[in-house]
Amino acid sequence: MTRLGVNIDHVANIREARKTIQPDPIAAAVIVELAGADGITVHLRQDRRHIQDRDLRLLREIVQTRLNLEMCAEPEMIDIALAVKPDMVTLVPEKPNEVTTEGGLDIDRQKDILAQRVKTLQEAGIPVSIFIDPDLTQVKLARKIEANYVELHTGLYAAAKAPAHQQEELERIRQAAKLARKLNLGVNAGHDLTYRNVVPIVAIEEIEELNIGHNIVARAVFVGLEQAVREMLALIRR
Ligand code: PXP
Repeated sequence: MTRLGVNIDHVANIREARKTIQPDPIAAAVIVELAGADGITVHLRQDRRHIQDRDLRLLREIVQTRLNLEMCAEPEMIDIALAVKPDMVTLVPEKPNEVTTEGGLDIDRQKDILAQRVKTLQEAGIPVSIFIDPDLTQVKLARKIEANYVELHTGLYAAAKAPAHQQEELERIRQAAKLARKLNLGVNAGHDLTYRNVVPIVAIEEIEELNIGHNIVARAVFVGLEQAVREMLALIRR
């Protein structure tokens, strides 16, 4: 059964809009777990625009499911991961002025350094996932740098308006997932998944876990966080 990791960065976004203490992503993590989600995901950005170091520290203490830390592969972040020891690190590209992560890592451009960072994290007992576009070359490169997982970027699928285009993007994800599995990589997926577009992604058997944030937190504003998580779980587990 596909697992759900809930990305709670957006709770921290609301807090940071006023530089105050509410809403606390730690409370969000507790509610998300009570609702039955399989994991908590946070992205500690270099500019600390939402999740703070304090959040990560406390989450490590209280998360009872699995804590997935998204981060760029810069040395500062590697040191933090080694100290905090999340259950998994997902390496993502990061640009200072982007609104959200804009696409997958181009592994080829930084193959050697990524391979080194993957090894450092693994030697500390932390499995590593690499966020990539659903591209067969990137999947093979992820294998080459000995990652444990890939997380396939679902953003283009989510953005596709015409049904034929959406099918094409879905097929790219399906093929990338199949190849990753064949190469013995675990397969996660995420970005811009919603209550409306998640079901065809769940149907791809190779995908083990989805990381979903914005749409769940957006719905939580109206129906409450626990209900929003339960509704997503109902779609994923039906
Ligand atoms: N996966 C990765 C690697 C991400 O960077 C994000 C956004 O932080 C997500 C999943 C969740 O995306 P969304 O908030 O659009 O559901």
